[in-house]
Amino acid sequence: MAITVLITSGPTREYIDPVRFVSNASSGKMGKALAEQALKQKCNVIVVKGPSDIDIPRSKKCKVIDVVSAKEMLAAVKQNLKSADIFIGAAAVSDYRPIEIAKTKIKKTDIGSDTITLKLVKNPDIIRYVAFHREEKQVVIGFALETRNLLSYAKAKLKEKNLDMIVANAAKTISSKNSAPTIIFKDGNMRKLKMRSKEKAAKEIIDESIRIFKTIKTC
Ligand code: C5P
Repeated sequence: MAITVLITSGPTREYIDPVRFVSNASSGKMGKALAEQALKQKCNVIVVKGPSDIDIPRSKKCKVIDVVSAKEMLAAVKQNLKSADIFIGAAAVSDYRPIEIAKTKIKKTDIGSDTITLKLVKNPDIIRYVAFHREEKQVVIGFALETRNLLSYAKAKLKEKNLDMIVANAAKTISSKNSAPTIIFKDGNMRKLKMRSKEKAAKEIIDESIRIFKTIKTC
């Protein structure tokens, strides 16, 4: 039977009022490249996609679910988790969201001051939820993007989020065409990949994910 890969992709948007939001520079390119490589490996693919200009072609083998916020992303992931063999958290989920969304556009004239304070609340950690609620044979793969201490932060995330593998990327990877990730496995082994296109990096990531899935399955 075909392996099903569930991927989160792109940024999330956390609205402040009907026209403004908190978000990040994620392009969704890596999510698309992962979906394409998984399709090439004859997997079924489900992508839960935050807002970006990247279009992922929908087909019988590739279901795409559009979401806006982290809460919506988590709900879509929960709905599709049962059918997944491999979960890949490639989305740059906004860690915080405004505590409330103003019903109408916030007017400068209503603020009456040159500064404004936004009160934010922590979003759910989607991959952590998946990793701690997964069935025995489900594989969970995460990403880490850092401006400093990349490998030590990535290793800490791998452990704290209960992942099977983490793909560590330097911050300049965000919205770029290329990446030179280090793949870190649960047993501490590492593979440092040379700079390559996100498509080529995605092939390595999908191949490693399938290998882990097959290893767990035969145990
Ligand atoms: O903690 P940090 O955001 O650096 O972790 C990155 C990994 O966690 C990525 O795989 C990302 O998709 C996932 N993540 C998530 N939900 C969040 C924050 C991060 O799934 N709220």
